[in-house]
Amino acid sequence: MTEPDCRNAPDADPSGVPFSALDPALLRTQRTSLKWTRYPADVLPLFVAEMDFAVAAEVQQAILDRVTASDIGYLDAAGPLAPAFADYAAAAWGWDVPHDNVHLATDVATGVVESLRVAWELRRQAGPELARPQRIVLPTPVYPGFFEMLEELPYDIVEVPLRATRETPTGQEFRLDLDAIARAFEHGAEAFLLCSPHNPHGTVHTADELTELARLSAQHDVFVVADEIHAPLTHAGTRFVPFAPLAADAGAISVTTTSPSKGWNIAGAKCSVIVAADARANAALALLPPETTTRASILGLHAGVAAFTNGRDWLDRAISQIEKNTALLTELVATRLPGVRLAPAQSGYLAWLDFRGAGLGPDPHARILTEARVALNNGADFGLGGAGHVRLNLACAPETIHEAVERIAAILPTASPTTAEVSR
Ligand SMILES: Cc1ncc(COP(=O)(O)O)c(C=O)c1O
Repeated sequence: MTEPDCRNAPDADPSGVPFSALDPALLRTQRTSLKWTRYPADVLPLFVAEMDFAVAAEVQQAILDRVTASDIGYLDAAGPLAPAFADYAAAAWGWDVPHDNVHLATDVATGVVESLRVAWELRRQAGPELARPQRIVLPTPVYPGFFEMLEELPYDIVEVPLRATRETPTGQEFRLDLDAIARAFEHGAEAFLLCSPHNPHGTVHTADELTELARLSAQHDVFVVADEIHAPLTHAGTRFVPFAPLAADAGAISVTTTSPSKGWNIAGAKCSVIVAADARANAALALLPPETTTRASILGLHAGVAAFTNGRDWLDRAISQIEKNTALLTELVATRLPGVRLAPAQSGYLAWLDFRGAGLGPDPHARILTEARVALNNGADFGLGGAGHVRLNLACAPETIHEAVERIAAILPTASPTTAEVSR
């Protein structure tokens, strides 16, 4: 008799694990990643971008198979990951990726750093007088890891804040400020780091926005690194547009850094891809040190092949749960956290919350950590425009979101506008 498939059960995660088994107290006894070790046991950890959901069975099996075969050596090339990624990119986004354009790196952070080192070296070769810090444009607030990556490189950062656009029922929408980016390019910039979809807001850039960015980049000869790590987690009903084909059409030089590490929750598997947008970018990637490939993990490579090939149903279920959790958080913020605004997200599982009107002072992150015992990311670390905000990870059991919101509500100075019990 076959086991019933409980993976779509309402009280279970995308792998079919009951939410009761994702109790943070239990996960803390089972997992050793920094999400579970950085803070004391009484702190609810909703900061770093790891999901509580169990890894897809197909991905687990791929790693186990390599371990069983004692196949845990070094890598020389993207091998089966190139067609696996290309097939996924074609099916998901209609992006035709030549397999030879796919290069390996340990993780997306390494891919970003090494791609920007290539961009700097290209410029230096073109004119030795340019062997000085170059300028990189960064739309902010943005993933704080970018600032850490850029510390490794000879670039001066030009922060261009996102532009507040539409007011939505939950909070303000923010988008790329293309006029300000054009001005920054006119003042002189050699590189641009695109976060697409944008972390922390979960904004999915439109085809029009990206087409204009590609045009501006070509016009001003700006090298674009497009970090598309969150793209597989684009919510239903929204179209993710990869930057590379637009860059290639516009004649802009660009590479895309991505991996299955966010979509399939395998950050520790350590294998990412750097994809050249066209032949010119691919030729530039010949400047990558060979170690960029050998430092990627063979376990991560096979995990990635399994994710892109056989993990698509799991991903759909993960997105569906993330959407439910987003709806739950939206409702809870509206009813339990007066003065707090939530940016509308079209991708990913990171919620960007504006606490400036909530009465917790200039550093809500610190108060929420020390008084509510909930660990979130501090908005001030995300660059210009981030102060007074926090980022919350909602890829967890719904009960964990309830718990986090109740703990935060208890320290707010303003009384809750409603005592109505929010449906669970
Ligand atoms: C936009 C972005 N890029 C890169 C990373 C890091 O990816 P990796 O662990 O593959 O270096 C993250 C992690 O959250 C991220 O949000």
